[in-house]
Amino acid sequence: MSSLLAYCRSGYETDLAKELTEKAIALNCMGYPRFLPGQGYVKYICYNAADADTLGKKLAVSDTIFARQMFVVTDHLEQLDKADRLGPVLAAIKANDNPAMKNGILYVDHADTDDGKALAKLCRKFAVVLRQSLRKNHCLTYKEQPHGRAIHVFFTDFDTCQVGYSYPGCRSNHANGIYRLKFPTGAPSRSTLKLEEAILTMLTEQERDEVLRAGSRAVDLGACPGGWTYQLVRRGMYVEAIDNGEIDASLMASGQVEHFAADGFTYQPQMGRVELLVCDMIEQPNRVAKLMGDWLVHRLAEHAIFNLKLPMKKRFETVSEAIALLQERLDKLDHEFVTCFKHLYHNRDEITVTVVRKV
Ligand SMILES: C[S@@+](CC[C@H](N)C(=O)[O-])C[C@H]1O[C@@H](n2cnc3c(N)ncnc32)[C@H](O)[C@@H]1O
Repeated sequence: MSSLLAYCRSGYETDLAKELTEKAIALNCMGYPRFLPGQGYVKYICYNAADADTLGKKLAVSDTIFARQMFVVTDHLEQLDKADRLGPVLAAIKANDNPAMKNGILYVDHADTDDGKALAKLCRKFAVVLRQSLRKNHCLTYKEQPHGRAIHVFFTDFDTCQVGYSYPGCRSNHANGIYRLKFPTGAPSRSTLKLEEAILTMLTEQERDEVLRAGSRAVDLGACPGGWTYQLVRRGMYVEAIDNGEIDASLMASGQVEHFAADGFTYQPQMGRVELLVCDMIEQPNRVAKLMGDWLVHRLAEHAIFNLKLPMKKRFETVSEAIALLQERLDKLDHEFVTCFKHLYHNRDEITVTVVRKV
């Protein structure tokens, strides 16, 4: 039976399984999720191959909260001979090749777990030989073509892998579905990477220009020690940093930051409104979603980027409820908003939300 395979952070398989089930039903694709807790991926088994293909074509990684990468599985290969893994993998790919849509990229991945990471070297080496063979066999273009179909091989053990494909626009363009970032020297906290990843992966280039305009103003609720403020300052923005804690001295020295030891739930912007509201306060998701809605509805902020802390249990349900509350309020406004919700690589037990007001 065909399936859709989706990667996630280890421990989030239940949430991803619920999300895939909900999305598959909405697309009329019948099946069920299968996973083991902690394995870092979920397989959504479809009752027929056409449904798996439809899911692969219509459901984008960017439309999901918990999936990092997704592809349609055509073959599950077990007991591979360690001396010749290439033969069966190549045969499986050739059997499912689609000449109408040239394969432009190859991914050889593993799960983001301790067991998965033990396969990293194998994946790297195997990718080199498989790429050469695919090119020789006219299954892969010589020049990388991100707009083509991608071939995926996902190793789950030294002798076991899943083989399949993904459509352009629906996948992540990063190895293992992970957007890696270097910690910026001078940033006061690792949290800075959460906002950087959100900016680089959840906003389009045009949205970035609009939302993070140099010279414009932002409010950062729960700002200390200043990792998120740092991202805004480095883009030339002026920031009101709200937190009872201590803010990084070099950020204050930039002349672009005002620090207010105030409560983020009652704070009002100094000039009545700002371009961007960001919020990393650790609070109940519904409370934060309500606060963000208030700022956007009353136009205290044009756009918002914020985190919703995930509870220990019923994470998918809790976050869906918070999202629905916010969406309902935004839908009533004359303005249109582009919203995106993502469990990012640099997030742990939280998801990031971007809300961009359309011009
Ligand atoms: C996860 S930390 C923020 C880290 C920050 N984004 C960074 O990059 O350095 C959460 C912060 O929210 C602040 N906080 C929590 N509740 C708050 C509230 N009601 N008003 C203002 N700040 C609050 C805490 O003091 C804490 O510094």
